[in-house]
Amino acid sequence: MGSNQPFLKFKFTMIIFVQKMSGDKLLLYHPFVSRKGIYGGKSVSGQPPQDETVELVAKYTYGTWRFQKGWKKPPHIVDAEGVYFTDASGKKFLDFSSQLMCSNLGHKNQALIDAIVEQAKKMPYIGPAYSIDIRAQVSKALVEVMPKGLEKYFYSTSGTEANEAAFKIVRMYQKPKGAYKIISRYTSYHGATAGSIAATGDPRRWFSEPTSKIPGVIFAPDCNCYRCPFRQEYPSCGITCAEYVDYMIKNEANVAAMIVEPVVGTNGVLVPVKEYLPRLKQICEENDVIFIADEVMAGWGRTGKWFAVDNWDVKPDIITTAKGSTGAYTPLGITATTRKIADYFEDNYFAHGHTYEAHPLAMSPVVAAINEYKRMHLLENAKELGKHMSKRLNELKERHISIGDVRGIGLFWAIEIVKDRKTKKPFNTRVDKATGAPLMVDKVAAELSKRGIIQSTWISHFVIAPPLIITKEQLDFGIDAFDEALRVADAEVER
Ligand SMILES: Cc1ncc(COP(=O)(O)O)c(C=O)c1O
Repeated sequence: MGSNQPFLKFKFTMIIFVQKMSGDKLLLYHPFVSRKGIYGGKSVSGQPPQDETVELVAKYTYGTWRFQKGWKKPPHIVDAEGVYFTDASGKKFLDFSSQLMCSNLGHKNQALIDAIVEQAKKMPYIGPAYSIDIRAQVSKALVEVMPKGLEKYFYSTSGTEANEAAFKIVRMYQKPKGAYKIISRYTSYHGATAGSIAATGDPRRWFSEPTSKIPGVIFAPDCNCYRCPFRQEYPSCGITCAEYVDYMIKNEANVAAMIVEPVVGTNGVLVPVKEYLPRLKQICEENDVIFIADEVMAGWGRTGKWFAVDNWDVKPDIITTAKGSTGAYTPLGITATTRKIADYFEDNYFAHGHTYEAHPLAMSPVVAAINEYKRMHLLENAKELGKHMSKRLNELKERHISIGDVRGIGLFWAIEIVKDRKTKKPFNTRVDKATGAPLMVDKVAAELSKRGIIQSTWISHFVIAPPLIITKEQLDFGIDAFDEALRVADAEVER
């Protein structure tokens, strides 16, 4: 034993390090337990050698949406299966936010893997100008699940690109009447590049100002009953947040389109009141404004329907989507338009495209994914478990003074924490997030991580969006962990 002792001591030492992990929102606290088997034994110094994977990744690649100096030890993940993923120490985590709210079908689904392998063997790439079987099959399958009327598709490789394509399409389509402005909302995220970041309401946009974003985007108020921008109450408000958009369009003039997340995702799972989206669509129709539903996160069963707009029977002119379309097994973005919009481009140049448009591998798992959503009744599961979530999270709210609001639909929920329930004073602000100040949500997430739960956080709330294959027991395990972890926030409530 003797000479092994320093190592064994280290073996049982839990090092917690803070790490924002990729993408736009996941702040991951990772308990990293060193193990001889993983590190391959001790080094000459008697300490386990450094993890080379972590070093190479941190040294040679960028960590997204962060100060790079805070990304020196991105957690080393070695496996993922079902609703769990495993780090290099062998510790297993429940994936309570489906990575970036995208692994809807869980990890290592065999049907999807087989579909990708089959396409890779058949034809991994061919240019976008050709007819290929997979493109025909995916398009046919999409017509069946998309809201009626959305039947012509542009395929890209991310949600961001799906929105960029939508913006170019509406601006080309509306050019004859001179309309070019796009209305978005303050509490939103639509992507990382010039067009989609310009339409993003959250603080990630600030870093692109003034030069790295397109002009012509204006912001409307949000449909947020917990923090109503008009300080009104539903239903006596008369849905002012929707009516104000009519006022904006008429007074701005030259509005080409409005883009909304039907259920706001990263920015707090804001589920609109039932009148909101139908009225917004009607206002857009009356004013000849194209209505774009960004279903990159809210689509694909997350809310208990194929698409979130289906909950209110709204038919957008354009849907943009990505994540759940392939369960994140391949990178795919989809911009779906009506035939009316498509017809415009019969005699007008469709000035958009990519080398990887309709990439065969990107599209390869879509049909298998749709079949899996159906075979496992995942939309129904989301709906059913959504009722259970509602009950359990509302119980949590009664027990934890730091919870200001819980809200959600299907398997898409937010817990918003506040310093003071009466005034709704948040623990942290947008500025805190943008400047890298320590956030209370991250403290709570660290506690969750110790208990084997990986949870997405943003400013002053958690976005709970587990894979749709999750069971009630697994869900309860995560919520029970919240019950314990939230004590750290309760302790700092202003009394
Ligand atoms: C609503 C919404 N739109 C667009 C995007 C951008 O998608 P991507 O990260 O695939 O570019 C996201 C990403 O989280 C999103 O949530």
